[in-house]
This record gives sequence, C-alpha cells and structure tokens, in this order.
Amino acid sequence: MLVDPVVWVTDGKYTGQSLKLFEDVSQLYELLLARLEFHTWRNDLETFRWRTAYFAEVNGQRSYHWYIASVRGKGQIGYSSQYMTHWFYPYKGKFHGQMVKSLINFMGVTGDGIVLDPFLGSGTTLIECALLGVPSVGVEINPALCIVSQIKADCLFIDYPSLDTFLQSTSPQEVFHYFHQKPPSALRWVLQEDSGPWTGKRILDVAWSEHMPRGFVADLPFDWKNFLLLCYLHALSDYTYLKGTAKERPIQDFFLQDLREYAATLKGTWQILRAIQLNPKRPSVYLGDALHLPLPDESVDGIVTSPPYSIALDYIKNDEHLLNYLGIDASSLRERMVGLRGNRTDKLRLYEQDMHRAIAEMYRVLKPGAYAAIILGDVVVNSTRTNFCNRILTWAPQMGFRESVALRRPILGGYARLRYEYIIILRK
Ligand SMILES: C[S@@+](CC[C@H](N)C(=O)[O-])C[C@H]1O[C@@H](n2cnc3c(N)ncnc32)[C@H](O)[C@@H]1O
Repeated sequence: MLVDPVVWVTDGKYTGQSLKLFEDVSQLYELLLARLEFHTWRNDLETFRWRTAYFAEVNGQRSYHWYIASVRGKGQIGYSSQYMTHWFYPYKGKFHGQMVKSLINFMGVTGDGIVLDPFLGSGTTLIECALLGVPSVGVEINPALCIVSQIKADCLFIDYPSLDTFLQSTSPQEVFHYFHQKPPSALRWVLQEDSGPWTGKRILDVAWSEHMPRGFVADLPFDWKNFLLLCYLHALSDYTYLKGTAKERPIQDFFLQDLREYAATLKGTWQILRAIQLNPKRPSVYLGDALHLPLPDESVDGIVTSPPYSIALDYIKNDEHLLNYLGIDASSLRERMVGLRGNRTDKLRLYEQDMHRAIAEMYRVLKPGAYAAIILGDVVVNSTRTNFCNRILTWAPQMGFRESVALRRPILGGYARLRYEYIIILRK
C-alpha cells in the first residue's frame, strides 16, 4: 500500500486527491513545515491556496506558489529557491524562499502584521513577505547587501513593458561600459550613522547622486538603473568566482548574458503577477545592527532569519568584489559583524556573546505570543561541532520565551563541513 503523505500532513482530513504536495516534497522537515502551515490555515483553504509553500494544488486548483515558482531562475531546483528575483546576485549565504514562506504561514502573519529579518543578507525574507502581501522590515549591517536586497525587492514592481521598450532601443554594450568605466578607488564613502536612518533606498540615492558617473544610465528611472546596477554586480561576481577556471570569460560576456536572463525573469515575473492578480507589498530595508535593532519593543508579529553560521563563512571575503566596486570600507564592517569579530582565539566566544544579544533583541521587539524562526547551520570549528542550536534552546526559556523547538534539515551535497541546518522556532 502506498502511504499518502497528505493524510498525515492534514491529520486525515484530506487525501492527495484534493490537496496535492509538490512532487519534490520528500524530506521530513518539508512535511513537518507543510503540516505546520496547513494547520494554521486549515479553516480557510481559499486563502491557503494563495499562501501555501508546499502544496501544488488546493481543492483541485493550482496554488500561487506553483505559478510563482514557474518563473524559473538560474540554479533553481524544484520549487524551493531561486525563482522570480531570488536568483538575482549570487550571494553565498541565501536561504530557501519556500521554507521562509511556510514559516510565515505557520506564524499566521497577514497584511495587518509585520515580519522582521534582523540578518537580512540578500533579502529572501522580504521577497517572500512581499509576495504574501505582508509588510516586512529587514536589517542588515552590510550596506552592499542593503543595496542588493532593496533592488531584488523593487524589481517585483517594475512595469516590464516600459523597461523592455528601453532595453530594445539601447545597446547593452553601452550599458556595460557605463558601469565598467567606474574606477573603484575613487569611490570610498562613509555612511554617517548620526544622520538619521539609512534605508536601502537612501543608500542607493547617495550612490547614484555622489558616486556613480554622470551619463545616460544615471538619468534613467530609479528602478531601471538599479536593475542594471544589480545585473552588473552579478556579472562582476560571476567573473570574480570563475576567474582562473575553465569557465573564465571576459566580464562583458557575463554581463550580456546576465542582462538577457535578468530581463527574462522580469518579464516572467510581471506576467505571472498580473495573471494571478498578486499585488506585492513593498518591504523596508534598513542599514543597522541586529544587536541594537532600530525598532520599538513589542512591535513585530514574526521573525524569520538566518544569522551567520558560527564563524564558518567570511562574508566580507566572499563579497570583496561587491564592497570594492561600491566603495564600502570593509575594515570597520568586519569589527561589527557577527561571526567575524575578533581574532582566532576569541572569535567563537564573541560569536556566542553576539548571538545571545541578537536573540535577546528578537525577544524585545516581538509581540507577546509571536514567533521567531532562526535558521542556523551546525558548523564544525577546530574538529568540534559547535551546536549553537542547543545553546539557543537553553537560552530561550531564560530569556522569557514560552516555547522552543527545533527541526533538523539535512544539507545534501554542497558544503562538506555543514551536515545539518536547524530551524529553531521560539515563541514569546
Ligand atoms: C546567513 S546571512 C543571511 C542570508 C539571508 N537569509 C539570505 O537569504 O540572503 C547572515 C547575514 O547577517 C549579516 N550580519 C552579520 N552581522 C550582523 C549584524 N550585527 N547586524 C545585522 N546583520 C548582520 C551578514 O552581513 C549576512 O548578510
């Protein structure tokens, strides 16, 4: 007899005849998340159809996630990540949009609530919130990633036909040369922290008005020139990582190919969002510190985040090309980033101290009864598994969280030092 997972996920209420999981939902953690999201929305299947992350069909009709994930991005496997603008800019520490969506669903946050990601990275949480119509705020310490996240989210709102008219009448080589002419050494700039909050938009405004060359790209509408900038940054990253390998090519070749593929993604996104009548919600991006969140007490309805995984990844080294191109001073950044602070001997201790502080901050800004979901990899440092998941589960009740639980997600292939990630769910 074939076991029907939908029967288990829905506690026997439905079978695979009326609710269909995506065909690649096969891992235990995915079934657990499918179950969690279903149970929050089981009394409103019509809304569930447009919100669900793991169901391909609800009551015989395709889910919105089916349509959204059909706008396929580079490197996309199945329905879990890289769809729509998620694939823009190859940031190394991205997490999966589908998983984020299921967590927001489980938390039950709607258009009246607000979701926070205090370690925003390249903006995955904000894109999922935008597509769910949920207001969201992202906080990120690296201004370059504020730029990346802001542009990826803004690209969901671009009116593709107008942009297409411009692209058809413009030489892509000329666009490439505009960005490529920029001498990186002339670009050093500092963001004054005392002059009010720095949003992703404000950083981009300053970049365009004070640091990018005058000329035809600079005069384009804000969202278009940002789209082209991100495409150049993507090409720069491709070029940097493939230099010296068999796949090395001139940066211009990467740019021309990326531009074609970026444009195809925007076209698909525009078409699908119109077809399913989905109006995304604009998120807010803030340059800031997860250890001192620029938010009042009890002001957010849910948190979905993925902090740096211990001291495993050197986020600055990984994106040096991006920081250099944008003229951002990496040395002062390193001293403020979780997992990068300190020297070899005190790095791990400082990481633990910072994580404790970051989780206490999450507790402070969450509304009573609201959830935080923290995705964290179990990294080996000096031949020892760091197991910060267990430490967080120990801290949680001491900080005042009423419930805490962790799901384990195996990492298949890829980064050998990382065998599992944990999805830690805390309830205030
Ligand atoms: C694992 S990545 C997040 C990736 C993100 N979930 C995504 O999908 O792109 C962790 C991020 O935390 C940021 N970070 C490190 N220290 C921080 C701090 N003190 N405040 C805010 N962000 C910080 C890093 O710059 C990095 O982008």
